[in-house]
Amino acid sequence: MEQDGAESSSIAYKVFTFEESTKNNQESVSVTIPEVLDPQYGMYVWPCAVVLAQYLWTKREELQDKTVLELGAGVSLPGVLAAKCGAKVILSDNAQTPLCLENCRRSCEVNSLQDVEVLGLTWGEVSPDLVLLPKLDVILGSDVFYEPQDFEDVLVTVAFLLRRNPSAQFWTTYQERSADWSIEALLHRWKLNCVDVHLETFDADKPELAGSTLPGNHSVLMMIITLKTGDV
Ligand SMILES: C[S@@+](CC[C@H](N)C(=O)[O-])C[C@H]1O[C@@H](n2cnc3c(N)ncnc32)[C@H](O)[C@@H]1O
Repeated sequence: MEQDGAESSSIAYKVFTFEESTKNNQESVSVTIPEVLDPQYGMYVWPCAVVLAQYLWTKREELQDKTVLELGAGVSLPGVLAAKCGAKVILSDNAQTPLCLENCRRSCEVNSLQDVEVLGLTWGEVSPDLVLLPKLDVILGSDVFYEPQDFEDVLVTVAFLLRRNPSAQFWTTYQERSADWSIEALLHRWKLNCVDVHLETFDADKPELAGSTLPGNHSVLMMIITLKTGDV
């Protein structure tokens, strides 16, 4: 396998290395993500994914043995990192786009992850696969708030899952693309609570993370969404 930006047919491999050095210890985990170069079906790592993965890296001890579902996973950097850190991971993307589901599977294969399940879950749809999910601890969504017309569908799915798993949390990063876009009214409608997590609190306020310059100057924000207390 070629790595680090090398191309093999229409696939390029990007390596992200998450590291922490303390006085007595050096820990690191690398994730290799295959990106499809065909512009028609292209699916890339988005800046939000690197920031969310950095958050997971700082929470890696908490994630061990937790069940984690990633929504709109695409090439799945956060979910794959969670699996490498010891979580039981389920990756999902739109059931209508099998090529995206193929991307999820390819990322697992490249990282030798055999136990990660890949499901077609379309936001806003209550499908048998959604209903049959096991108990969840954490739900991930990187750059899933990018089309205002889909915001409510994302939150409908998240609200459905949080009602079934009242102590679970939705960890999500989004890119500020327009000051006019807001999910505030929708959070209120679906009785969800939202807390902003400032990037400097998990060392993500940098243009380069995990050896990648993808975050650059993009305005990426992180929030944790939970059920409003008393609405279980
Ligand atoms: C901007 S990309 C982000 C991909 C990946 N999470 C990342 O940050 O690198 C949005 C993702 O949402 C998925 N998606 C779009 N509409 C969807 C829907 N209605 N239901 C489920 N997934 C959807 C896309 O297939 C794509 O993988």
